[in-house]
Amino acid sequence: MNADRGVAVVTGGTRGIGLEITRALRADGFDVAAVFHGNEDAARMCERDTGARTFKTDVADFAGCQALCEDIEKNFGPVRVLVNNAGITRDGVLHKMTEENWHAVIETNLTSCFNMCRAVITAMRDRGYGRIVNIGSINGQKGQFGQTNYAAAKAGMIGFTKALALESAAKGITVNIICPGYIATDMTSAMKQEVLDSIVRQIPVARMGRPDEIAAIVSFLASEKAAFITGATITANGGQYMA
Ligand code: CAA
Repeated sequence: MNADRGVAVVTGGTRGIGLEITRALRADGFDVAAVFHGNEDAARMCERDTGARTFKTDVADFAGCQALCEDIEKNFGPVRVLVNNAGITRDGVLHKMTEENWHAVIETNLTSCFNMCRAVITAMRDRGYGRIVNIGSINGQKGQFGQTNYAAAKAGMIGFTKALALESAAKGITVNIICPGYIATDMTSAMKQEVLDSIVRQIPVARMGRPDEIAAIVSFLASEKAAFITGATITANGGQYMA
C-alpha cells in the first residue's frame, strides 16, 4: 500500500458492492484495508485486482475489530475512512425464523457497525478528521416480506448513523448512510428467480443497480469535498422507494 490519502477500511470489501467500493477508493488514492470473513479466494482476487490489502476478521466480534484496527493504525497509518459494508441475509418469514438467524443478521449487519466505529472513533476524534459511510438498504427504509431480521438491522443502522453524526460533527467526522436498492451481486442472485423478477418489475428504471453505482457515492462521501454532508440517508434504488 503506497497511496497518499491515508487508510480506508472497507468491511466486506472483497466481494459484491464492497469490492467496487475498494476499487473506487483505491482509484481515489487511498490505501485500502478490505476486511473479509470467509472467502479466501475472493480476497486473493481482490488483492490482485485492486492492490488493496486484505484482512480476515469477523466484524461481529468486538475484540477482533479492536485488534484489527490497532494493527492497521500501527502498521499502515491513520484510518481516515471507514465503510461499514459487511452484511448477510437469512431470509424467512418471522413465524419460521430461528433465533440463530435473527442474531446472525443483527450481529453481522448492525452490531458490526458499533464494533468497527468504536474501534476507530477515538483516533478520528483526536485527529479531528474522519469519514464514516454505512451501507444500509432500501429494506431498512420500507420493510420487506421475509426480512424482519435484515430490515431491523438496516433500519437500526439509520438511527445509529444519525446519532453518531451528531456526536461527531464538531470533531470533523462525517457519518452518513447509503441505502441501495436491489443491486446485482451474489446476495441478490441467491434469491429465487421468480421472487427477484417480481421485485425488478417494481423498479421504475427497470433494472437492478450495479455495485459501481453505489461505490461512486461512497467515493464522494469519503472525500474532503463532502464535509457539509453528515447524518444523511442517501437512497440509490432506481426509484423503487422514494424516502
Ligand atoms: N407479499 C405478500 N405475500 C407474499 C410475498 C410478498 N412480498 N412474498 C410471498 N408471499 C406469500 C406467498 O404468496 C405465499 O403465500 P401462500 O402460502 O398463501 O401461497 C407465502 O407468502 C409464502 O411465500 P413463499 O412460498 O415465497 O415462502 P418461502 O418460505 O418459500 O419463502 C421468502 C419466503 C424466502 C422470504 C421469500 O418470500 C423471499 O425470498 N422473499 C424475498 C426476500 C427479499 O427480498 N430478500 C432480499 C435479499 S437481497 C437483499 O437483502 C439486498 C438488499 O439490501 C436489497
